[in-house]
Amino acid sequence: MALNIEKIDGLKRTDYCGNLRRDDIGRKVTVCGWVQRQRDLGQLIFIDLRDRTGIVQLAFDETTDKEIFEKAFQIRSEYVLIATGEVRERSSINKEIPTGEIEIVPTELKVLSVSETTPFEILESTNVKEELRLKYRYLDLRRPPVQNAIMFRHKVVKCARDYYDENGFVEIETPIMVKSTPEGARDYLVPSRVHHGKFFALPQSPQLYKQLLMLSGFDRYMQVARCFRDEDLRADRQPEFTQIDLEMSFVNEDDVMTMNEGFIKYVFKKTLDIDIPTPFERMPYKVAMERFGSDKPDTRFGLELCDLSDLLKNCEFKVFASALQSGSVRAIKVENAADKLTRKVIDKLTEFVKDYGAKGLAFTRFTADGVASSFEKFLTESEVDAIHTRLGAKENDVILIVADPKDKVVFAALGALRCEIAKRLDLIDPSKFNFLWVCDFPLFEYSEEENRYVAMHHPFTHPRIEDIDRLETEPASVLARAYDMVLNGCEIGGGSIRINDPSMQQRMFKALGFTDEDAQERFGFLIDAFKYGAPPHGGMAYGLDRLVMLMLGCESIRDVIAFPKVANSGELMSGAPDFVEQKQLTELSIAVTEKAE
Ligand code: AMO
Ligand code: AMP
Repeated sequence: MALNIEKIDGLKRTDYCGNLRRDDIGRKVTVCGWVQRQRDLGQLIFIDLRDRTGIVQLAFDETTDKEIFEKAFQIRSEYVLIATGEVRERSSINKEIPTGEIEIVPTELKVLSVSETTPFEILESTNVKEELRLKYRYLDLRRPPVQNAIMFRHKVVKCARDYYDENGFVEIETPIMVKSTPEGARDYLVPSRVHHGKFFALPQSPQLYKQLLMLSGFDRYMQVARCFRDEDLRADRQPEFTQIDLEMSFVNEDDVMTMNEGFIKYVFKKTLDIDIPTPFERMPYKVAMERFGSDKPDTRFGLELCDLSDLLKNCEFKVFASALQSGSVRAIKVENAADKLTRKVIDKLTEFVKDYGAKGLAFTRFTADGVASSFEKFLTESEVDAIHTRLGAKENDVILIVADPKDKVVFAALGALRCEIAKRLDLIDPSKFNFLWVCDFPLFEYSEEENRYVAMHHPFTHPRIEDIDRLETEPASVLARAYDMVLNGCEIGGGSIRINDPSMQQRMFKALGFTDEDAQERFGFLIDAFKYGAPPHGGMAYGLDRLVMLMLGCESIRDVIAFPKVANSGELMSGAPDFVEQKQLTELSIAVTEKAE
């Protein structure tokens, strides 16, 4: 008998598969979904039917209508079915699944669609390569952990809308085609057909528009906003990603921080039933760098940095002495690890820190057989003693040191190294959610590439009031009214109090090296707007993808995005980006040249 594809006509779902329980025994139900698998035991056929709520077993036996039994016999994985039947107790209970105490005995069964053999099996856990999974993302999205992540994300978004609405925020959409204002990451450009030779940019964030909405008097704004940045991808970076973006008028830092601690409390309670203690610790940027070598410290474990520079002022070891001319020598002590951090492992860690610009990794291992060190032979006895004492080193500890003429390199290398060691030695409690604010960021950072100061956050961030006088004379010493929200070593959000005084904004643009004409050309509409009554305001934006990733303990934001992009910014499923027809290019007056090497 051939298998016919049937119409759903007349049948209506009464229940989702995964919701049926012992209480439903005796009820006549209709369920629909995909076949997880069909097991044919001769006299008995079982079909596991799956929908987004879970799996339920359909049982076909000697009591089943012959025609239905025949049909069940021909059914394969991933066919789409609708089935009606009575819920009965299972003879052999499956404690592994919530519906394991019951099964459905179908009296009606329709095959709504058949399926070819899928490129990979739709299983809870899989070791199929991510590339294949992303090529067939619509199948990958059938897998419960992937599907659950996307549904969890929906709940987080819903919480954001509810929470901010309850607190008087208005959700307002800002444009997706905007003016390119090169500052920050590279823009994605959209050519205009009508305006020959001109381009829109896709927004890197709704920053300017949300500030203008404050000028317009909306007082509190929020948006679940798609942002676009043409930058190199990492596990926590996508070229298009989503922000929970917000802005508030008549506020200072405390108001924005308190409001957002409230959101975190709310969303963790609602979705994970976890109580997050507030307020969060506030850590000045300088402290974060010195203690953790990072402006987004993971505080779930120790391994803090220790500055040895003052102990080595007169040191004759070339590596340390030259580092100290403009930089520093810093260490981390790994307790009780000499047996695990062998020479071989330290060699690997040396390669690891080189990725962060360090030129080497000096070490001392305190083993039962004595002290083994790569550098102590170059120091005096008192220098060695001073280092051991400061670090409180004892048997089986390991000291790891990076020295560099650039503090930035020392911090980057040791900051990454402490995380790497914590991972290797399993020092991280994955159930912890450690929140903190990093604040008092420098307003500027020097860009060697551009040979000028650039805004560390963005050019609209207000300098700290007490530092304003030094804006022109000592820009490097000026701190910003900016704050980042950090969770478990990841920057999940950031924001600032903004400049609302046009003359202040002009000083800022000057400090950034823009001429008046430059500033007017790029940001003229904003500068003009600020002449017409700008309230004090500030806000922040969360990286929604990162927040959801961390809440679920996922490894990558790709796991919480329905259709993510891969490392080269392409999309494996559709093949985007792609060439377009010559006709489209001609219409846009665009000529594609040979790729320059
Ligand atoms: P910022 O640039 O810090 O601030 O971005 C805010 C947050 O967005 C997330 N994020 C990303 N997530 C995924 N992929 C990316 N490529 C990516 N880039 C950033 C981070 C980050 O903390 N307009 C300001 C906010 C403000 O001042 O109000 C802004 O965009 O979690
Ligand atoms: P060398 O004099 O090059 O043999 O170096 C002696 C030790 O110092 C070796 O363990 C190197 O790995 C280490 N070392 C070299 N450069 C640095 C550096 N910039 N920071 C820390 N250790 C270093």
